[in-house]
Amino acid sequence: MRLGVFQSPTKVLFGEGTISGIGDEISQFGASKPLLVTDKVLLEKGVLEPVLRSLDESGFGKLPIFSDVPPDSDVECVRQAAAFARQAKADLVIACGGGSVIDTAKVLNIGLSLPGDLLEYEGINSFSQALKPLIAVPTTAGTGSEMSAVAMIMDKANGKKLIFGSRYLYADLAILDPNLLCSLPPRLTAGTGMDALTHCLEAYVSLGANVIADALCLDAMALIFQNLKLATTNGDDPEARANTLLASAMAGMAFTNTGVGIVHALAHTIGGAFGTHHGLTNAVFLPYGMNFNMPSSYERYARCWRHLCSLDPGASGAKYGISAKLVMEADFEKDARSLVKAVSDLADSCSIPKRLRDLGVPELADDKILELAAVAGTDPAIMFNPQEASIEDLSNLIREAY
Ligand SMILES: NC(=O)c1ccc[n+]([C@@H]2O[C@H](COP(=O)([O-])OP(=O)(O)OC[C@H]3O[C@@H](n4cnc5c(N)ncnc54)[C@H](O)[C@@H]3O)[C@@H](O)[C@H]2O)c1
Ligand SMILES: [Fe+2]
Repeated sequence: MRLGVFQSPTKVLFGEGTISGIGDEISQFGASKPLLVTDKVLLEKGVLEPVLRSLDESGFGKLPIFSDVPPDSDVECVRQAAAFARQAKADLVIACGGGSVIDTAKVLNIGLSLPGDLLEYEGINSFSQALKPLIAVPTTAGTGSEMSAVAMIMDKANGKKLIFGSRYLYADLAILDPNLLCSLPPRLTAGTGMDALTHCLEAYVSLGANVIADALCLDAMALIFQNLKLATTNGDDPEARANTLLASAMAGMAFTNTGVGIVHALAHTIGGAFGTHHGLTNAVFLPYGMNFNMPSSYERYARCWRHLCSLDPGASGAKYGISAKLVMEADFEKDARSLVKAVSDLADSCSIPKRLRDLGVPELADDKILELAAVAGTDPAIMFNPQEASIEDLSNLIREAY
């Protein structure tokens, strides 16, 4: 047996209506002063109503709420949030929102629980003390932050994303209630779903891949292929929402153990420089990144493809554009290419923009592309990419995706 390590300490409650159990869970932590972190859009759209109702019914209705989290939260916001939490003397943090809210809550919890400035704890394994309990309630299905040991925070001054990574950043509890996602607009549903798919595909071919994470990636990938289009076009479909939410959490468990890869390195860089949405940026880079990794990963991609087809053997041709007979006969490389095509087709069926320029990235001069490629080349995500990438390779990928 190959040696490996896999960790996933987060308890998970999943299913429609599970948010109603939040009060009991808070009490089980022995906490009396929970703090809720969220954003204004969620408050205004009423997404939080079931959460606030459950908190009220369990006697926590008057809890302090920090709701000033912007998309792609930044250092300034996290510092403010930590000061707010300290003033409230919070003894437990609830994050209810997308990846930006959950990452903000993770990093504010550092500022709440540890001495000094929270930027001292940036980087991987920069602290070794437990933090206050954290409950993560995702309202998007993509980042998997509720299951991961990392948080990404914008450093606006330097136009890049800072990473905080520690086993103490795992949420203690994740509540996956698909009802909280019904109001997520189609473009964000599609973009976040493609983030989760990118987690699966990068984790599966990562240098850190392991057999436990493989199983999670394969099944999460299938759930995304089977449900993302429906969740995007019919956001009220509880089954499609539940399945994409589960897939996102499973992919989060996988990638936090394996690392991601070149697509994330490029998406972090472009997102840091131009404020593009993380999931949509991953979606644009994903086919290019997969083609780049083809020489080292075609057999792994082919295995993903065969897994998808095996779940639907009779109709695999109709569904994924290849007949069952061909699946058995085709060689790995051909199957790997079929997977890349299926990924692009899925993105198209969810109306995801194809190019960086469609996400609002301005035209890039050669020296700017080189500068961005150099940043991507030092992003921690690239460490796990199966294919070594030079600055020239990264520049070419930015050009291709533009
Ligand atoms: N920590 C990790 O493991 C990890 C992994 C991947 C990405 N990330 C980070 O997550 C962030 C992106 O998170 P995201 O993609 O979830 O988007 P997001 O959290 O930035 O949210 C995007 C927008 O969607 C809105 N929204 C969220 N849920 C909604 C709902 N149910 N109904 C209506 N509107 C809703 C938000 O208010 C916001 O305006 C990035 O900063 C990225 O770097 C973190
Ligand atoms: Fe991601």
